[in-house]
Formats: sequence, C-alpha cells, structure tokens
Amino acid sequence: MMNSHSLSRRGLLKGAAAFAATAAGSSTGIAQEHAADTGPRTSTVEARERRMQWWHEARFGMFIHFGLYSVLGQHEWAMEEEGIPVAEYQLLAKQFNPKPHAARAWAKLAKAAGMKYMVMTTKHHEGFCLFNTKLTDYCAPKQAAGRDLVAEYVEAAEAEGLRHGFYYSLMDWHHPDGARCKTDEEARRRFVDYIHGQVRELCSNYGKVAVMWYDVNWPLTAEGWESEKMNKMVRELQPDILINNRSGIPEDFTTPEQHIQASAAPWEACMTMNDSWGFNRGDDNWKSPKTVVRNLLQCTRDQGNYLLNIGPKADGSIPEQSVDILTKVGRWMDGHSELIHKADKCQARHSELAQFTRQGNTLYIHTHFWPGETLAVGGLQQKVLSAKMYPGRTPVKFAQEDFRVRFMGLPASAPDPLVTTLAVECDGEPTQDMNAIRVNRKRESV
Ligand code: GLC
Repeated sequence: MMNSHSLSRRGLLKGAAAFAATAAGSSTGIAQEHAADTGPRTSTVEARERRMQWWHEARFGMFIHFGLYSVLGQHEWAMEEEGIPVAEYQLLAKQFNPKPHAARAWAKLAKAAGMKYMVMTTKHHEGFCLFNTKLTDYCAPKQAAGRDLVAEYVEAAEAEGLRHGFYYSLMDWHHPDGARCKTDEEARRRFVDYIHGQVRELCSNYGKVAVMWYDVNWPLTAEGWESEKMNKMVRELQPDILINNRSGIPEDFTTPEQHIQASAAPWEACMTMNDSWGFNRGDDNWKSPKTVVRNLLQCTRDQGNYLLNIGPKADGSIPEQSVDILTKVGRWMDGHSELIHKADKCQARHSELAQFTRQGNTLYIHTHFWPGETLAVGGLQQKVLSAKMYPGRTPVKFAQEDFRVRFMGLPASAPDPLVTTLAVECDGEPTQDMNAIRVNRKRESV
C-alpha cells in the first residue's frame, strides 16, 4: 500500500485512496468512492446503520486542526515540508498555551453555523498530544499549556449540545519509533503499543466519543498497525462510536478529502475553508459562504456528510475570515436547516444554476446563480402540484410542458445573496431524465 518513497503529502493521500480501491478490487485510486460497500471490518452493516442514524441527520460538522503548527502559522505540514529538526520543532511546546476555554467559541460558532458535531485533532502528524496521556510528556498538560485541551474541547462541545469526535494521526514525526517501526520489529511493537495505548486513553477518559477519525497510516500496513485489534478495542470501550477508514481497513465511513464524491458506503467529505487545515497566516484563498452552502447541498443531495475545517490561531481564536464565512452560512441555515437534516436521497442533479435536494415528493431547487424572473428546470418526470419560494414560502407561478417546468414572476435579482430555495411539490418522487430531452425533443428539419 504505502511504501517509503510515497512519503510526500500527495503520495500519502494517493496511498489512502489506493488502499480503498484495492479493498474493493479496483486498480485505480480514483475508483475509491465508487467502491462497493464492503461493510465495516469490526462491526456489521446493520449495526452500522443503527449507530449512524444521528450522523446522517447531522450532515454538517466542524473539523478543527489545532496543535503546535498553529504557533508557526504556516500549515500543519511545516515540520516535514520545511525540514524542521525535531529538537527545534518541539520547543514550540514551550510556547503553545492557548487562552483557557478557547474551544467554547469554536463550539458556539459550529452551532450557529448549523453544525451538529465536531472533530478535533488530538494528535496530528507532528506527534504533540493535546490530551493528557501517561505515555509521553510531549502533551499539552505537561508543557506550556499545563492543561488538557481535549478535555476543554469536549466540555465546550457538550455545552452546545454537539457531539465530539477525535482525529488521531497514526503517522508520528516526533516519536523515536515513528519511522523505524517499518523495518525494526521491536520498534514496531513499542510504537503500536504506544498508539493503541493512546487510542485507549482517548476512548476511556472523555465520555461518549462520537467519532474516531484516524489519519495517515504511514509507514505500516493495517496488519502492522494491528488495526483490526485496535478498532475492536475502540468499539468495546465506545459501543456507539463511528470509525473512519484511515486505519487501513474499511469501517463505518469513507473520507473523500477536499472533494465531494458519493459512494455506496457512508461517506463524509472533509474540506478546508482556505487551502490549509492548520492555521496558515498567509493563506488567503478563502471559499465564499456561497461555495460552502453549495458544497453542503451537494453532500446532502447524495446523502453524504460535510466536515468543514477551522484552523484556530495559537491562542485558540478563530481566523476572522472563518468566523465571517460560518456566520453567513449559519444565517442561511437558520431558514433552511430542516432541508439539510431531513433530506432524502435526491436523483435530480442537472442544472448549471441550482442544486437539488428532496424530501418525500418535494423537490427543493437551490439556486446559486439567479437567472432573473424565470427559472427553468428540464427533464422533471413528475407533475408539479405547487411551488413556493423561501424564506416566506411565497407561492410561485409555474408552467409545465413536456420537457421543462418554468417558474415565473420571480424577483429580478436573487432574493437570497447565497442560495434561494424553491420548494416544488410533485405528484410522486421527483426524478429528472435528461436523456428523454436529448432523444425525444422534437427536432425540426432545416
Ligand atoms: C491529510 C493531511 C492532514 C489533514 C488531513 C485531513 O491527511 O495529511 O494534514 O489533517 O488530511 O483530512
């Protein structure tokens, strides 16, 4: 799966995709998300469905990348990509001391944005632990912070009624055995005991954990990590937990990264708001609030989740651009959240102006590029019974012909600066057939 020359960031990610593809018997990494649902290795499909019900409804979560890299403010891969010596990098632990309870503002913002759960980095590739661990001194309570930052995060999430999950990187650039475990069996034994021990601590000391979100499994294979054993332990300690696929074996959900791609198995697209997970002061490539809403709608349409990241600064404060984006997304969610959380799978997908979601027989047309007074949708196979426009559910006039429905008398400019929603009630489950248009539309001879 992953070998020593796939050390680069891209290589590692490709490796993860290739793993999933191999698991599904395909030869290309790209096939990952189309892979058949093999079910979780350490649970059953039925049990997974039961455990995941809240997660499907939740739909939208906050990812938080926080660690020593937040002090540098140059992306969470700086330690490796800038070749920083371990002895130099670890001095950051003497500086990293976020304001007490900084996580409360994260949780408040997540809630205001309409998110239902959070996933925080308890240990990223740099190896520094934000939680209290007996297994190393390289952790927040024993360094400058002097306290358990994971405990603060858990308390903050709970106070807002959000579920808390833990990101945990298997790859470790700091631990002495983190690389040699690949070739030295004694080192592997020590390191795997260390990793399993920390996962045990995380699953024992922080109440009910919603998600175990592993990351990069370089340099070992799933066998080397003893992932099956590890995940069985996780489920014993946390019977309702959801486990992602990055320990090298398929579990509860897949994790398309920085792109949205549906799969047969439950999936969660994780994405940054700019181009960095960890705080990166120079990264100004922010997504617009509209893009965020569009992404969320696309995930909703195909029944996936959207895990959107913030990278707090070293003091724990959230970059103002992220606050601004999520606040605007939250305002949109205030009027539309039920359409996100209660959505059914939606087959309709063809429009360059809008995205579709569905609830029962109602098709929701979410227009991000407002066309003006008339909005048309092609290929709808059902009869339209009524149409209403959000937020006031004002009735909209419509005309339906063989191959299109036109909604008319709409305002000239977009009523909602992000996305304007029309609720279209149909006489059956709404579906779109574009082929019918292409083949059957009458062609005139010239
Ligand atoms: C990648 C990156 C990492 C980030 C993660 C989020 O694996 O290595 O920095 O935490 O993706 O999905």
